[in-house]
Amino acid sequence: TGSKRIVARPYTLDDKRGGIVPAFKYKLSSKSGPISVEDYRRLARRAVPDMVWAYIDYGADDLTTLQANRRAFGRYSLRTRVLTGNVASDLSVTVGRQELSLPVLLAPTGLVGLSHWKGELGAAQAAERAGTLSILSTASSYSLEEVAADTDKDHFFQLYPRGRTEITESLIRRAKEAGYQGMFITVDVQAQSNRESQRKRGMGNPPIITPRRVLDGAIRPKWWTAFVRHRRFSGRNLVSGFGARAAVASLTAQDDLLRAPLTWDDFKWMRDQWDGPLYIKGVLDADDAEMAVDLGAQGVVVSNHGGRQLDGAPAALDALPAIVARVGDRAEVLLDGGVRRGTDVIKALCLGANAVCIGRPYVYGMGARGPAGAEHIINIFREEIRTNMTLMGVRSVKELDSSWLLPADTPITG
Ligand code: FNR
Repeated sequence: TGSKRIVARPYTLDDKRGGIVPAFKYKLSSKSGPISVEDYRRLARRAVPDMVWAYIDYGADDLTTLQANRRAFGRYSLRTRVLTGNVASDLSVTVGRQELSLPVLLAPTGLVGLSHWKGELGAAQAAERAGTLSILSTASSYSLEEVAADTDKDHFFQLYPRGRTEITESLIRRAKEAGYQGMFITVDVQAQSNRESQRKRGMGNPPIITPRRVLDGAIRPKWWTAFVRHRRFSGRNLVSGFGARAAVASLTAQDDLLRAPLTWDDFKWMRDQWDGPLYIKGVLDADDAEMAVDLGAQGVVVSNHGGRQLDGAPAALDALPAIVARVGDRAEVLLDGGVRRGTDVIKALCLGANAVCIGRPYVYGMGARGPAGAEHIINIFREEIRTNMTLMGVRSVKELDSSWLLPADTPITG
């Protein structure tokens, strides 16, 4: 016909090449400013150096599980009813003891200070402004006391436990004293996974800094100035210093935390030291979920660590239904991994999740625009959930169940 074929640029996970990627290579998909998670992803890619990007955006081995997390959402279509007169008006859910204005929390992510110097504190404040809560990582670049002191609400704390040791005990005690309202014990990091993309870019312990990598930071003057001035690049729950030596010491301390083998007896021991709501994060098997709930967990986070640990583990969404079937009547079930759209949240809720956590999306927000970006990301989710529930003819998230899902055979790519 002579008409020009328009080929959409595929959403890829980035190139595998190391070295400096020119900032101008990553274009926004719209001229309107960022209006989607993917827009923020592109902006963040430009804003932070390669080493930091490798840490944020990649996963383990061949990225199989990372990509599976996204594709799983594409297997479902949403049922839609017309002329119902229903407008989505109730997105609120309860997690722990707290009502949230939407079913989305901030997942624990380590070293957010690398993406933006305001780090986990800025993200927790953004979550509050947007009517939700964050789960602060053990590996955070602001200490749990700093975050508690400068936020209005009590947030959640994520624990990387090192067996039954003094360090585990002291982290639990500190979280209790600082007023955290719930604890998430992450259990899927029995070993450091093979994060090849990170290793290729020198993002190991210690980080390998070359002149080229310094240049890659320096060509982003805004990021570079804040990085040097505020030095939020060490795990501040584990060390108190700020400089390069502190950063390496905190990485070593964190490696030590993760190396210890854990058992259900350790889990019971931690449970006995914590009075509030307790969650186990990183469960993909219904037997494990049941065991945790039998031992007193109030909830389970179905998660493969965003494809950053066992490559070949099932997509989080695929693991969800069996776990909901096993413990959903007596425990909260949360999900994270690959949630990028309001419709993803809706699908997870239809499959029985009480709420979802987002990891990379708010880190993109932080990298691109700091706390205002993280807040915008949460509000983008809110708007997308609201619009699409209205289009389905659903008034409240409490109405969402599997009757709203239909099979689809068009997987989302990327
Ligand atoms: C993480 N995640 C994580 N989990 C945890 O329990 N403690 C941690 O310190 C971290 N650190 C961390 C850093 C970064 C940069 C990312 C991207 C992720 C995993 C996180 O809590 C969550 O499980 C995933 O991020 C969810 O997947 P999405 O939303 O990123 O696809």
